Order: sequence, then structure tokens, then C-alpha cells
Amino acid sequence: MPNLSMVYQEMQDFFKPLWPGEDKPLVLGDGKRDHPLLMLIGEAPGETEVIKRRPFVGKAGKNLDEFLQLAHLSREEIFVSNVVKIRPAERGATGRLRNRAPNKEELSLFTPWLLREIEAVQPKALVTLGNVPLKALTEDKATIGDYHGVWHESRSGIPLFALYHPASIIYRRALAPVYEQDVMQLAASLTIGTGK
Ligand code: URA
Repeated sequence: MPNLSMVYQEMQDFFKPLWPGEDKPLVLGDGKRDHPLLMLIGEAPGETEVIKRRPFVGKAGKNLDEFLQLAHLSREEIFVSNVVKIRPAERGATGRLRNRAPNKEELSLFTPWLLREIEAVQPKALVTLGNVPLKALTEDKATIGDYHGVWHESRSGIPLFALYHPASIIYRRALAPVYEQDVMQLAASLTIGTGK
């Protein structure tokens, strides 16, 4: 089984020369590195994540804490990461950097590293947040609207539960009860599967 520190070292070596002159630090995974109950996978880090070099901190961290509370889980039991490990950003009209969705090149560069990361961490189950990690780990035609709230087989062979991205609930309030229902469903199936 690959060792996570080695995978991360190889990953840093791979990406370092790719974007010369651009400041694109990698934000690596965080949490229980060895056989966690769950590995949560988001899209990509934002500004605060890059500053703190940790996934899901700041506003996204609040979303994560709400998820953990609803699912009766603690951060120590899980591992948290993203498909893309750099912040995808562009200059807005005011010249300020703003987040954008990861592009095809970033997704195809980072997805093989995500598969190696999962292989090293060996979580009991994967939880994808939104379309980006869902597509990366199942199939390109998968959509969160069809896949959320149930278990699927992932490309890594580890069972995968699909959730809406918690940030999407801020923009689409109607999704809030759906998201909560899905998290309860996930928590209930973990209780059955693990005796937790
Ligand atoms: N922060 C992350 O680390 N990932 C997301 O998908 C969103 C915010």
C-alpha cells in the first residue's frame, strides 16, 4: 500500500515545475490519515484554505462542522481533501482574484493523484461534495441531482456516498432539507455498517 507522505512528496515534486512564476501552493488533505471511517472530498481550496494550507477552513469549515454535527461524527474520525489541490482563480473586473470552477486541464492533472491519495488513506467510505468529485470518482455523465443520497461504486473500488456541496445550499435554499435528509441517511447507514 502506498504511504501518504510519499504520495504527497511525489505530488509536490510533480507540480512544482508545472506553473513557473505562478504562486500555486498545494493544499493537501487533513485529518485521520489511516483507515478513517470517511474521506470527504470537495472541489478545490479557496482563499482561506490557501492561507491556512488546510482544506475546508473558514466559511467552508463552518459547512463541514455542520455536516459533522448532523452526522454525529468528529473531525478526528475523518479525512478531508479536494480533487484539485490548488486554488483555481481568475482576476475579476476590479483586479482582485476570485474563485472559479476547476478547468479540464486541472481536473485531468489532479484526478490520478486523488486516486493515489485514496489508495494510501484507505478510508472505509468516500463522501463526495458536489459534482466535481462525484464525476472524478464515478463517471463523467454522473450528476449530483441523480446520484445524491445513495451509495455508489467508485473508480477506486471504495463505496461512495454523494452529497450536494454544502456551499450550493447557500445559493439554493430549497436544497437544505434534501441535504439534511441525505446526511441523516449517510449517518444511519454508517451506524448499521460499522456499529458506531
Ligand atoms: N474549500 C475546500 O477546501 N473545498 C471546497 O470544495 C470548498 C471550499
